[in-house]
Order: sequence, then C-alpha cells, then structure tokens
Amino acid sequence: MEQVKSYNNFTFYNPTKIIFGAKTILQLRNLIPKESKILMTYGGGSIKKNGVYDQVKEALKEHTVLEFSGISPNPKYEHSMKAVEICKKENIDFLLAVGGGSVIDATKFISIAAKYEYEDPWDLIIKKFSGDSKYEPKAAIPIGTVITLPATASEMNAGFVLSRESTKQKYDKFHTLLFPKFSILDPETTYTLPKNQTINGAVDTFIHIIEQYVTTNRNTRIPDRISEGLLDTIISETPKVLENPKDYSARANLMWSSTLGLNYLISTGVDQDWAIHQIGHEITAMTGADHAKTLAAILPGMWKYKKEQKKEKLAMMAERVYGKKEGTDDEKADFTIQKTIEFFNSIGMKTTLSSAGIGKENFNELIKRIEDRENDLKAPPLGENADIYAKDIIKILELCD
Ligand code: NZQ
Ligand code: ZN
Repeated sequence: MEQVKSYNNFTFYNPTKIIFGAKTILQLRNLIPKESKILMTYGGGSIKKNGVYDQVKEALKEHTVLEFSGISPNPKYEHSMKAVEICKKENIDFLLAVGGGSVIDATKFISIAAKYEYEDPWDLIIKKFSGDSKYEPKAAIPIGTVITLPATASEMNAGFVLSRESTKQKYDKFHTLLFPKFSILDPETTYTLPKNQTINGAVDTFIHIIEQYVTTNRNTRIPDRISEGLLDTIISETPKVLENPKDYSARANLMWSSTLGLNYLISTGVDQDWAIHQIGHEITAMTGADHAKTLAAILPGMWKYKKEQKKEKLAMMAERVYGKKEGTDDEKADFTIQKTIEFFNSIGMKTTLSSAGIGKENFNELIKRIEDRENDLKAPPLGENADIYAKDIIKILELCD
C-alpha cells in the first residue's frame, strides 16, 4: 500500500498569553496578582540603560518586587542556583524575567528548581530521558516575561537551555510547566540592541524555522506556508533594522517572527531536525561562541551532507522563498543553500567554523562531546530521522567552510 504523505499526528498546546505592541509594559500591573511576591530577574544591565527597567518598576510600584540580576548570555546553572535559594528563603510566588532568551531560560530553570524536592536540580536536565518520574518537575513558580531580544521564542515556548560551568555541559529541557503565563512583546525595547545581537536574533530565528521546515515533505501546507512567510519576513526586515534601528514596523515584524518561529505552531505535524542546534550547543559549551554564530557555521555543511534527504523541502524553499521556479530539484536545492549563505553574509553573519571558534584541531573533541551527550542524556542520535552519528558529524564538519 502506498504510504500517505501527510501530517504526523500531533497535539498542539500553548497557553502563553501574548501582549504585543508599543508601551505595553505598563500592563504588567494588571497581569500579576497584587498579593504576589515577585522576583524580577534580568541580565547584565541593558534594561537599565534602555529604560525597560524603569518601565517595569513603574508598572509594579504597588507590588512587592525583589531583584536578581547578572544572568549571563548562555546562562549558568551555578548562578541560577543563587536565585533558587532566594526563591525558597523569600517564598517567592511569581518570577518576572526581563531581557533576552538567556534571562528567560535561566528563570524557567529557577521556576522548577525552586520546587524540586530532591537533592540536585541539574538532574531535571541530565536525567530527563531516564524514564524515572523522580526527575520530572512536579511544580513550578509561575513566570511572566518582558522580552527584549527577538530570537529564541523562549517567551512563548516550554523550553530552556542551561550551561553548567563545572562540567562544561550545555543542555536543554522542555516541560509544559515551563510555558510563561504571559509575555510582553514591545518592539520598542529592541531599538537598543547592538547590531551583532540583532543579527544573532535574525539568524537564530531563521534556523529555528528551517529545523522544522527543511525536513521531510509531508504535504503539511499549513506549517509550510507559515514557515515560508516567516523566512520571507526575516529576509526582508533584517536589513531595514540594521539600516534604521528605530524602524518600528520592521522591528515588530522581526519580533513576532521570532515568537512564531518556535512556539510550536510550525512544528505541527512535521518532522523536526534540530541537529544543527545540538551541534551548535556543543560548540558554545567548548568555545563560548554566540549561539547563532554556531548555527550559521554548521548549516552549510549540514545541508550539503543531507541534501538528498532534504531535497524536496530545499527545492520548495527555493521556489517559494527565493523565487526560483526553473530547474531540477537538485539545482533548486543547491540554489537554496547558496542563497541562504549569501543572505547570512549580507547581514553580517559569517558562515565559517572559524567564526564560531572551531578549527580542524577541535573536530575530535567536538565529536567526543556529541557522543558524551548521547551517553549522558541517553539521547537518540541527531536529525529528523535520528540517523546522524559521530561518523556523520565528522563528514558534516568537513563540508563546512
Ligand atoms: O544581559 P544584558 O545586559 O541584558 O544584555 C544582553 C546580552 O548581553 C543583550 N540584550 C538583550 N536585549 C537587549 C540587549 N542589549 C541591548 N538592548 C536590548 N534590548 O543581548 C545579549 C545577549 O542576550 P541573550 O539573552 O543571551 O540572547 P538570546 O536571546 O539570543 O539568547 C541566547 C540563549 O538562548 C538559548 C541559547 O542557547 C542561548 O543560551 N536558546 C534558547 C531557546 C529556547 N528557550 O527555546 C532556543 C534557542 O535555540 C536557543 O538555544
Ligand atoms: Zn536557536
């Protein structure tokens, strides 16, 4: 019997309320119950420089708000545990994350770690595939967010990524308890992003989309057409904000693209890849490179290596995103690879391993890390077909620039 090409069965669930638009931070006052004891979490101080901190404090002037700052990019377990102690000692019952994906991710971990009844909350991550319910979060402190960097969609998904300094591991975790109750998306907060962070955000979003879209062709027209619209938006709007950082309309388009890029809407019924991300996380754990830089370095090699498996979707992307209607699927797939590299380079994102701090001399360590990851986490091999092993990764790296 011929295999029907259609959606994988799916459950779609996303309870996060989104408040979108200019000057919406003031709405915080009605979003968090008055009697809450809030811990406001943030990063290295960008929110103090751009006025977001003041807006939050103004909105919450009648609430009880404690603060926890210093959350770094690629947030750390060790630092987050200090906030866990504060939550327990102060009986915090609401967490408000204000900043980029790193701040939100650390806050998500804090929300379940503060309610974890066993010894080491790192087990929530490292033993997540163990099947033992002891390592499943049972409760979480509710979270709200004010996102200031469109990239991760952490503001509307149930995942986080955390690094442990002592072991140099960087791993992710997903759980429905981690969906924020609400997220405020004010595009004006993004006017102050340094150019490199705007570029990182655009590339991270782009690659979230292709990890879901450039997989198997299953005639999933709804997520596919939405994905193409999001990719088209990033390609058209990123140059505008690099030219004019206060272009509200373009900032708004990018902000909403990022959220929709990883809030599970475009993963409905499709096969998902995420190999670029998992290899990227290992590179960041090794070199400290920005998340997006690692992704841009791996994407060309991954697509070249997986061209046959991904050909139909690469060709679809050529037709619908890059407007190439002529030629064979093979030519169209090559066109997508080339055009994507050109787009990244045109906005100032390099697509070379060296820009992520990796050279040939690091390949063995990187591959060992991927093997350790599979052993540590008992995780399946990478890719939408779970068929990328260490021997494949060396070939992928050799196809990268
Ligand atoms: O720390 P502050 O001072 O706030 O400065 C930050 C930080 O230095 C700055 N920044 C943020 N908003 C700003 C701003 N500067 C000026 N104006 C603003 N409006 O930008 C720097 C980078 O921030 P960060 O939060 O680290 O960036 P991003 O949002 O890209 O988050 C990256 C992290 O998210 C993880 C990545 O692995 C990485 O650890 N990811 C999380 C995902 C998720 N939760 O679903 C998925 C992603 O694939 C990703 O893996
Ligand atoms: Zn990402």
